[in-house]
Amino acid sequence: MSSTLDSNACKLLFTEARTANLFLDKSVEPNLLREIYDLMKWGPTSMNCCPARIVFLTTPKAKARLIPSAFDGNVARINSAPVVAIIGQDMEFFQYIPHLYPHAPENKKVFEDNEFAAEATAFRNSTIQGAYFIFAARALGLDCGPMSGFDNARVDKEFFGGTHVKSNFLCTIGYADSAAAFPRGPRFAFEDVCQVL
Ligand SMILES: Cc1cc2nc3c(=O)[nH]c(=O)nc-3n(C[C@H](O)[C@H](O)[C@H](O)COP(=O)(O)O)c2cc1C
Repeated sequence: MSSTLDSNACKLLFTEARTANLFLDKSVEPNLLREIYDLMKWGPTSMNCCPARIVFLTTPKAKARLIPSAFDGNVARINSAPVVAIIGQDMEFFQYIPHLYPHAPENKKVFEDNEFAAEATAFRNSTIQGAYFIFAARALGLDCGPMSGFDNARVDKEFFGGTHVKSNFLCTIGYADSAAAFPRGPRFAFEDVCQVL
């Protein structure tokens, strides 16, 4: 087995992958949602706390519940996507630390006693899990359109009422209409933003 990805895989994941704006009228096989999760779940989180919780909206009826929370500029994208994932974060993730991090179950208490640490940890780790989500989906041949342009409190009320889960960001999934992509934005060069000390 090769120990590095070949250049085609790197193109698929990074250099030629683009953020999806609008999508082709092509459905996403339901089993791919499980495959995305079964890849992304292996990405590392602090204390293996795994705070991300995901709701997949796969029908027009389910997406219609999201539309009133979306900023105007994101409505067309949501409507054209076969699937929209709500990447959420369980603010009580630490309840599962004894199960997920069995060699230090007492670490649950670190977060029980420190709301600031719990919030920062939930946000940081659900965000990187959201990034794992995007790259898992790309690895499976899908395109993603992540979005933070929405009313989080409204989404939380609509989809996470009565739970300890809060929304982090949205991610459309499907097969992009490449003609609708925005022009590729530049990136910083290594020298601009990296230091090697
Ligand atoms: C966390 C996150 C939130 C974003 N929110 C929005 C959004 O609300 N609306 C939108 O049109 N694009 C949104 N984007 C898309 C970015 O503008 C896009 O990924 C970036 O410009 C890079 O585009 P490229 O992958 O095509 O190079 C978001 C991207 C990320 C990662």
